[in-house]
Amino acid sequence: MEVKSVKETHTELMLHSVRFAKDERGRRKGQEVLFKWPDVQKKLGEHKHIYVVDARLGSNNHTHRLWYDVIPPHTEEGQDWRTLGHRHTVEAIIYFLKGRGHSIIDGKRYDWGPGDLLSVPMFSWHRHINDGDEPVLRIASTTGPLSLALGQAVYEDERYPEFWVYAQEGEDARKTLIPGGGGNVDDGKIGANRTAELYAEQVAFAMHEEQLRRNSRVLVKQKDLVFEPTAMGRLAYVVDPRIGFHSKALGVVMAEIPPGKRSGAHRHLYDEIDLIVGGKGKVIVEDKEYDFDTLDVLSIPVFHWHQYFNTGSEPLRILGINTRIAMDNLGLSLTHQGEHADYA
Ligand SMILES: [Fe+2]
Ligand SMILES: [Fe+2]
Repeated sequence: MEVKSVKETHTELMLHSVRFAKDERGRRKGQEVLFKWPDVQKKLGEHKHIYVVDARLGSNNHTHRLWYDVIPPHTEEGQDWRTLGHRHTVEAIIYFLKGRGHSIIDGKRYDWGPGDLLSVPMFSWHRHINDGDEPVLRIASTTGPLSLALGQAVYEDERYPEFWVYAQEGEDARKTLIPGGGGNVDDGKIGANRTAELYAEQVAFAMHEEQLRRNSRVLVKQKDLVFEPTAMGRLAYVVDPRIGFHSKALGVVMAEIPPGKRSGAHRHLYDEIDLIVGGKGKVIVEDKEYDFDTLDVLSIPVFHWHQYFNTGSEPLRILGINTRIAMDNLGLSLTHQGEHADYA
């Protein structure tokens, strides 16, 4: 076996950093963009939970994933959750396509139906129950890949207490939305100097965040969406910290394009996964075109120009789930606007 010198090893490591961005551009170019609903539907016939956009399946998306699943009539996701359900240190968005039911999130009940969306607060215990005679069809998107890369992906499930890392520490650890448990908000306070104040704020931060999470919005009813004209076309912000959600990573928008019209074009440094919730159309992604229908999923590569066209006779509705907020917090925020939409 060839033994490398210290110089060779460390020069290679340095060049890995230098090469990475250009290599990554190639990976983005080769990224699978279009996921057709009929293929997903066939798989859902055999298994009720199908990952669609997922780095573990070869997707180049580094920050979030998307899956489809079905909850059979009068059952619960997970089937035999009875008390706590489950909780995780990832943000999660759930969008309901068919069926009706309710969720218990951090002890509160939320009733939902088609077109409604849940933004599940980080590390809150939750359960999802189908109350109807029809199967519930839904998609979910989480920041699983991001949390895994950070080494902070905790998933606690009432069925598997042997894998709990925090909840077994007692009643308080089970109730808190703070991974690792909270403390007393005054624990860090000692005296009146600026550094002590800064440190006390740091100690109190998690408890403050927990309150904000508990008071943030969770359920969005389809009928409450407000569409307004923008450079990208008619848009509604669905989940965003600026409209009452305590999201630190995931954002959601809904776009609506009338028949024969096109959206604006833009590119950005965040990952985006689109679910086509109504109508049909095509998207141009850099130099390629993809035709899509209702329930298809698009994975838009980072920093690729994209623009949508309604080629059908119904309004085209696109649910865009992105990690813009996470990237903003990392200092990687950039959206370039190109051509504007051709309608208002
Ligand atoms: Fe969950
Ligand atoms: Fe976009």
